[in-house]
Amino acid sequence: MDHSNGAPASRELETVSCQDETGNGLSRRQALGAMATAAFAAGMAVFPAAARPKMARTADPAATKKAFVDKLIARMTVDEKVGQLRLISIGPEMPHAKLMDEVAAGRIAGSFNTVVRRDNRPLQEAAVNRSRLKIPLFFAYDVVHGHRTTFPIPLGLAASFDMAVIERMARVSAVEACNDGVDMTFAPMVDISRDPRWGRTSEGFGEDPYLVSECARASVRGFQGTSPDQPDTIMAAVKHFALYGAVEGGRDYNTVDMSPLRMHQVYLPPYKAAIDAGSGGVMVALNSVNGVPATSNTWLMQDLLRKQWGFKGVTVSDHGAITELTRHGVARDNREAAKLAIKAGIDLSMADQVYLAEVPGLIASGEIKMAELDACVREVLGAKYDMGLFANPFLRMGKAEDDPVDVRSNDRLHREPAREIARETIVLLENRNQTLPLKKQGTIALVGPLADSGLDILGSWSAQGVAEQAVTVKAGIEKAIEGKAKLLTARGANVLDDPKIVEYLNFLNWDKPEVIQDPRPIDVMIEEAVTVANQADVVIAVVGEVRGMSHESSSRVTIEMPGSQRKLLQALKATGKPLVVLLMNGRPLAIGWEKDNADALLETWYTGTEGGNAIADILFGDHNPSAKLPISFPRSAGQIPTYYNALRIGRPYTEGKPGNYTSQYFEEEQGALYPFGFGLSFSTFTLTDLKLSASRIKRGEKLTAEATLTNAGSFEGANVVQLYIADPYASIARPVKELKGFQKVSLKPGEARVVRFEIGPDQLKFVNGDLKEVVENGQFNVQLGLDSRNVLEQSFLLG
Ligand code: BGC
Repeated sequence: MDHSNGAPASRELETVSCQDETGNGLSRRQALGAMATAAFAAGMAVFPAAARPKMARTADPAATKKAFVDKLIARMTVDEKVGQLRLISIGPEMPHAKLMDEVAAGRIAGSFNTVVRRDNRPLQEAAVNRSRLKIPLFFAYDVVHGHRTTFPIPLGLAASFDMAVIERMARVSAVEACNDGVDMTFAPMVDISRDPRWGRTSEGFGEDPYLVSECARASVRGFQGTSPDQPDTIMAAVKHFALYGAVEGGRDYNTVDMSPLRMHQVYLPPYKAAIDAGSGGVMVALNSVNGVPATSNTWLMQDLLRKQWGFKGVTVSDHGAITELTRHGVARDNREAAKLAIKAGIDLSMADQVYLAEVPGLIASGEIKMAELDACVREVLGAKYDMGLFANPFLRMGKAEDDPVDVRSNDRLHREPAREIARETIVLLENRNQTLPLKKQGTIALVGPLADSGLDILGSWSAQGVAEQAVTVKAGIEKAIEGKAKLLTARGANVLDDPKIVEYLNFLNWDKPEVIQDPRPIDVMIEEAVTVANQADVVIAVVGEVRGMSHESSSRVTIEMPGSQRKLLQALKATGKPLVVLLMNGRPLAIGWEKDNADALLETWYTGTEGGNAIADILFGDHNPSAKLPISFPRSAGQIPTYYNALRIGRPYTEGKPGNYTSQYFEEEQGALYPFGFGLSFSTFTLTDLKLSASRIKRGEKLTAEATLTNAGSFEGANVVQLYIADPYASIARPVKELKGFQKVSLKPGEARVVRFEIGPDQLKFVNGDLKEVVENGQFNVQLGLDSRNVLEQSFLLG
């Protein structure tokens, strides 16, 4: 990773060494805080290095910050306070020139969706030179899985089961975002999803609380580095708090009605993990939680987030969510909406005028107390302080003379990490007769509507990713086989045939229509593809979803492979040529046919800027796949929700023992088509000899579980050993099993290694009926496996 590329001109701050009166060194954060205080006291927004005063004693950085923010608040008018609660996007209603005036008038806290330094600098200059109090702006953006470089979508990143991969993605993204003057990202998105009909499943890390929590932590570490006040770090704002992934029926923006137990056991832990890792911000969900919209939910925002969890950062509403309180039917009008949101503690209002229009009147009438308004302002100013912006408003933007000439230039991309990371996210689902890896020889037919799409391979929320800079599957394969094998191509089908659906997808919030249809009749396209396939030694079909199908506001009623593409696959299968099916999609699909008929099946998700190269690395064996599914693949939409960690029930379906009056569907096989944690390798791995270090432990003690992982095949590669724990008898019904650890282990052919996991209170605790975390005595079953279904099991007793 190239850190130098991410260092704006204000690097000099790195070398500042500060001494207090006693000559003791101060941490850089303390020093910045003290400098900011002094700078502000001196009436200067930017404190020139040469004029920095000797530091006053600052024993407590939190106290220094508080003093600084309090002093500032004391000088603010109500209008200026309200201004600090507004997060604005440049758009038709707020053109750049108008925004400049608003900033100068002290009516804006920050902007999002403006990511070019040239555009942002005048805004910041207006803030620090023209506004009365010279409070700097901050610039936010959805840096979700990359910035200029697009990395695989989060669902794919989770499939790596490798937290170093996720941290690296976030680190590189942060460096790129800083280079564009971005201070904060609306990420990570850690909404657990058990319903693949929900389009935003693609944007999260899957179904499992443990895995998603790990991903949340790794993301925050990557975005924020040692602290969000560095020139190459950005502040994270974890989203969408809370439970957005559980919208009813997978319908985006819908309601969430959930038992407190399930909340605490499954859906809340990832947000908590991100907050414990230091996420400076929290974005509030658009949905309601048990009848009360998150945006006006004082239990959620105050009792849980602030009091119980001790969150000390800034909260931001989702887009337009405060106005939407009227549509939820909990506020009569915008005035009441603003009141409810302030009282709930929604500090920043994203993209609506409600606070501006209503809060001054609410203060005047006494319906909102000044202390309540100040509490919100305090967090916004505190976040700016934590982002290092009071010390240097241009910390990330640097100097004009250093602005990139071409913001989209290729040399601003981080292609190497993008390729390396993408390779870790591709899941091998089938590989009959060792169809893969392919040889770089003979004739290869590449078919399918997604084979040459630079746009779709980026996935949704691809920030500043540029389709023309993305390596398509076709480009990646061409490069890999150059001079060695022949490539024949045909589109074969459109992704979708229904013009109404195409119209809907093109109506989503893109710059231009994205789904461009080949006007030829499907039969003509298929015939062409079959002709090409008949001339080849092997056929690769790239099929799935255009990126807009796995996006915000893209809920699906079915998770089938769209009909046109299934028809194409069936025709290709009929040629009798080996068929490699390469899936590109952002949610589990019902791929029973593909499972049964493909000679090799690869889940590639959306792999990003270097996707085509990474996919070619796998196809031709330059990299051995090791990713695992972070979400179960149901057999059909009717089986939703299907997740591995279901609660125990009284009449479970037992495989091999069918019978009436057990929990099952009678028209279809039971259980996931592909279970959570599943993924193959080109090599053959075995896991044997599970041993526990004790058969009984006392409370507070730990034991070790170990097993031997052997690479019995002929390819070097990695596999993910997964630890599951089941608590079969407890005070409440517990999940049949729960992931509690994993280790990715690389082995050479023939090599074996003993993999160990420590098991103690952290792995055994759960939230009981009184919503208390407890460890209960009794039997525990320890399972180690290479997926969630096929496991070795041993039991021990606690107590
Ligand atoms: C999404 C958020 C996003 C925001 C700003 C909203 O529509 O729900 O996830 O951060 O837009 O782009």
